Amino acid sequence: EANPDDAMLIQTLLRRSGMKFESVTASDEEEFLSAVKHDGYDVVLADNALPQYSSIEALKLIRTTNPSVAFILVTGTVSEEFAVSIIQQGADDYILKTNLTRLPAAIKNAIEKKRIQLEKERSQQELKQLNAELRTVSAHLEKIREEEQARIAREIHDQIGQQLTGLKMDISWLRRMTNNHAEQTAILNKLDEISGNLDETVKTVRKVASDLRPSLLDDFGLVDALDWHSREFAQRSGIQVDLKPGDKDITVDPDIAIGIFRIYQEVLINVARHAEAGRVETSLAKNTEEITLIIADNGKGFDTLQKKKTLGLLGMKERAQMIGGSFSINSKPGAGTTVIIRVPLNKSTKS
Ligand SMILES: Nc1ncnc2c1ncn2[C@@H]1O[C@H](COP(=O)(O)OP(=O)(O)OP(=O)(O)O)[C@@H](O)[C@H]1O
Ligand SMILES: [Mg+2]
Repeated sequence: EANPDDAMLIQTLLRRSGMKFESVTASDEEEFLSAVKHDGYDVVLADNALPQYSSIEALKLIRTTNPSVAFILVTGTVSEEFAVSIIQQGADDYILKTNLTRLPAAIKNAIEKKRIQLEKERSQQELKQLNAELRTVSAHLEKIREEEQARIAREIHDQIGQQLTGLKMDISWLRRMTNNHAEQTAILNKLDEISGNLDETVKTVRKVASDLRPSLLDDFGLVDALDWHSREFAQRSGIQVDLKPGDKDITVDPDIAIGIFRIYQEVLINVARHAEAGRVETSLAKNTEEITLIIADNGKGFDTLQKKKTLGLLGMKERAQMIGGSFSINSKPGAGTTVIIRVPLNKSTKS
């Protein structure tokens, strides 16, 4: 405000309306700059008629430095166009000096509006941060789970496997020692039975261990693990699986390998459960930029827009993001389903 009388008038009017406040009056750019440096004010009232400093400039400054402060144009001369343009540029209101009685209410409104806006921004920020934290926690848990499973798998394989083998050897020993026994046949039959049971148990243990942690993945890599799983799946489900690895020795980070493998398992489970497919075509390719796994079934498809409250697809998406990749599913009723997983490679895994 350049006119001290007007400044006084506005202050008196606001006090009389019952408003309690402190104020600073600035009449040129320098004064304005030094005034807005101090934090803790709620509203800027700007006169447009300042020859030394335009209200538009003041508004621009305040929007970049103090976005939470309300801005009201209080002016004697203003065209309709100017009023519209300054509101579009972020002013909260404008008041004509001939109509100052509206000012107290306008100030309260503008401050309240700013407060709500600020609160909204803050909670959006919080939400974003919370989301990011959840992502991190869930990635961390997934990693722990995989490590834990790997440990249990190793233990089962090494400990139980060895003990079972020990038992088998005991049985062979007993067999040899029963040569002279009167009830030989019965005992031998029993031993055969036990031995058969043990063979089954060994198979079960292997299966449990490899479900927990596909050791092929660690020993031979992603391509062989996918290949092995495809065969296993085909055998169990009766659905034919064609795996086309674009490149036989695709080596990736162990974390990425287990991530892709788990998603593949889950996708095939979905095919078996929902698709009524006869065939699945899988291709795994790697170039310098990324690794791509495409899984297409020729089943009945589904409407991807109809969102069900299921966790399968969500989990796969999450898992893909965990390894820095993306997961997409394309399907239409009657047209089969295609899943595409892309994982960009960073420099360390490119070579
Ligand atoms: N290959 C597919 N062919 C046909 N429909 C599919 C296929 N994959 C998924 N769907 C449909 O998408 C839905 C969501 O799959 P999602 O894996 O999220 O859930 P789900 O398999 O039903 O349950 P879960 O949470 O145990 O995985 C399925 O219920 C099914 O209707
Ligand atoms: Mg599922």
